[in-house]
Amino acid sequence: MAELIDGKSVAEDVVRRVKALTAELAEKGGRQPGLAVVIVGEDPASQVYVASKSRTAKECGFHSVQHTLPAETSEPDLLKIIGQLNADPAINGILVQLPLPSHVDSGKIIQTIAPEKDVDGFHFINVGKLGTGELDTAFVPCTPAGSMLLIERVRGKDLSGLNAVVVGRSNIVGKPMANLLLAANCTVTIAHSRTRDLPALARTADILVAAVGRPEMVRGDWVKPGATVIDVGINRIAAPEKGEGKTRLVGDVAFAEAAKAAGAITPVPGGVGPMTIAMLMANTLASAYLAAGLKRPYF
Ligand code: GUN
Repeated sequence: MAELIDGKSVAEDVVRRVKALTAELAEKGGRQPGLAVVIVGEDPASQVYVASKSRTAKECGFHSVQHTLPAETSEPDLLKIIGQLNADPAINGILVQLPLPSHVDSGKIIQTIAPEKDVDGFHFINVGKLGTGELDTAFVPCTPAGSMLLIERVRGKDLSGLNAVVVGRSNIVGKPMANLLLAANCTVTIAHSRTRDLPALARTADILVAAVGRPEMVRGDWVKPGATVIDVGINRIAAPEKGEGKTRLVGDVAFAEAAKAAGAITPVPGGVGPMTIAMLMANTLASAYLAAGLKRPYF
């Protein structure tokens, strides 16, 4: 049976360090890190995430502001709010929760966020820095950054000689994940819906990352014995065995099967999920250190 990678505990470690480094920043004369979270509309899942981000920010000792805007908010109004947050010295990180309503151009909104406050790492400047290996000044998207910390816990920082397969090519997870693994010297393949013989490719992976949003797609016989399996998926499925109308969360990996072959594996929930918010705090702290003219802390 595989080692269980406890994302909840690693995330708690990160938040504890962020808290301590926030206190240290104040002693050095820096100002309190500030995080602004913007949410447009009433998507229930987004509301849960955003509440959790704001709560963790407060726990870290941050100045935390939340803009909760109605679904009909116009693009110009949203751009105006981003402009104000860009100019506000009390704010180091701006996060606009996605998805945005369809009448708003998400790409345009994201590219309006000042790159030095783009703690989501979605601005072209930060994407370009990650792609060219400028990791000292890049903001890296939170989910792949958190996944990378979990991989390091198992495999160390230098992944030379290891094959990594990332299943999923999204801008938020798949592509930045592949770039992080490449920067750590892995041999990286990105697989996606058009990949031929995905199970055979997956079996070549020493590190297998699943980020496709399809419940339990990665089966046990896709996993190379001893592989490190990182499950980024969070899917809610029907669970009639728990009673009528009940649901449960599963990842993109069929956990029970995969755990028999893997060397280490993340559970869902309690794996990658908690890391995303922790890394948002780490990015906001880094932004505040840089704004104070100090060297940024690494996690
Ligand atoms: N919606 C789902 N994941 C994310 C994320 O990482 N950042 C933002 N801004 N919105 C999201």
